[in-house]
Amino acid sequence: MFSAPHLVPRRLFSSQICCNIPSSISDKIGRGLLLRANHPLNTVKNLISSHLNSIESFKVEDNLHPKVSTLQCFDDLLIPKDHVSRKPSDTFYFDSNQVLRTHTSAHQSQFLSAGISSFLVFGDCYRRDAIDSTHYPVFHQVEGVKVFASGQNLSSAQVLDHLKSTLEGLIRFGIFKDPELKIRWVDAYFPFTNPSLEMEVWYQGEWLEVLGCGVIQPEIIQRHYPDKNAIGWAFGIGLERIAMRLFNIPDIRLFWSEDPRFLSQFTNSEIVQFQPFSKFPACFKDISFWTSNESVFEENDFYSIIRDIGGDLVESVEMVDDFKHPKTGRQSYCFRINYRSMERSLLNSEIDDLQFRIREKVSEDLHLELR
Ligand code: PHE
Repeated sequence: MFSAPHLVPRRLFSSQICCNIPSSISDKIGRGLLLRANHPLNTVKNLISSHLNSIESFKVEDNLHPKVSTLQCFDDLLIPKDHVSRKPSDTFYFDSNQVLRTHTSAHQSQFLSAGISSFLVFGDCYRRDAIDSTHYPVFHQVEGVKVFASGQNLSSAQVLDHLKSTLEGLIRFGIFKDPELKIRWVDAYFPFTNPSLEMEVWYQGEWLEVLGCGVIQPEIIQRHYPDKNAIGWAFGIGLERIAMRLFNIPDIRLFWSEDPRFLSQFTNSEIVQFQPFSKFPACFKDISFWTSNESVFEENDFYSIIRDIGGDLVESVEMVDDFKHPKTGRQSYCFRINYRSMERSLLNSEIDDLQFRIREKVSEDLHLELR
């Protein structure tokens, strides 16, 4: 989300923003996967929290409501007014001033303002996103923050070293339990930290990005923390990424499954390898259309409609054709929607009905001409 400081035109924010949260998303609020004993996400939460608390004491929060203000989610973190992450095509808005948090960093300012120097905030986060086995519009993060009093006179380099060794210990010993795990640090960009880094671990033959972190921008401490000259670090970890690797869970949608064949595999907070159960058959349907010359085609709006109507029955959506008419210059796309239930066989009539409703809705709302 913060890979580069892209800017979007101001006009996107000038008009009133209205609610763009479909019921498939609001249904997820309050499901409390993090609080559910033995759920893989709960187990990862406990690993992180107990490792870090064995080193020193962090205040832990895991049940804060995901509705936050745009101040908390963006402004307090020095995210520019025209930063791409604020776009309604990327973020779920209740109204112009309230969003579903896009990251747990949204809670930094309130804890700092309360003078809390070490804290971990676990929570569900929401981003409008593509649909596939590793992307889901709801996911979980943990935010970790530690502030050192100004009296300790630490330099930014010392704080960064402390951050790096804390996180290397957490990942090697607290989570993966592998002292040999290969780790590398990559420069990154986040508006709220400087310097900023990402950690990658060598796992099953590839470098896997596991977290973002950095030294908190002094301006954030000055604005919110009682000790204005204190210095601190922050990190954010995506929990599904870690849990998918630890438990060998192949599809991010499984975390939301109520299927006993999934849930019963996890007991006593142990790390076990998920045993896939036979999948129900998949079925795909294509949808092709010309985009309108008057309005921009936002892929995320399209995915969101599909997700809203198809819910968790949509396994993935992929673009299979992209064509620009040589004479008229009109743009056409074809997307393939894969339908599959994790819990049962789908009826043809039911998929036809979903596909029909998706076609109606995208042509109406996105002004597309169906082919
Ligand atoms: N909030 C960032 C994200 O969601 C992660 C992060 C947290 C980076 C804290 C730096 C410090 O990508």
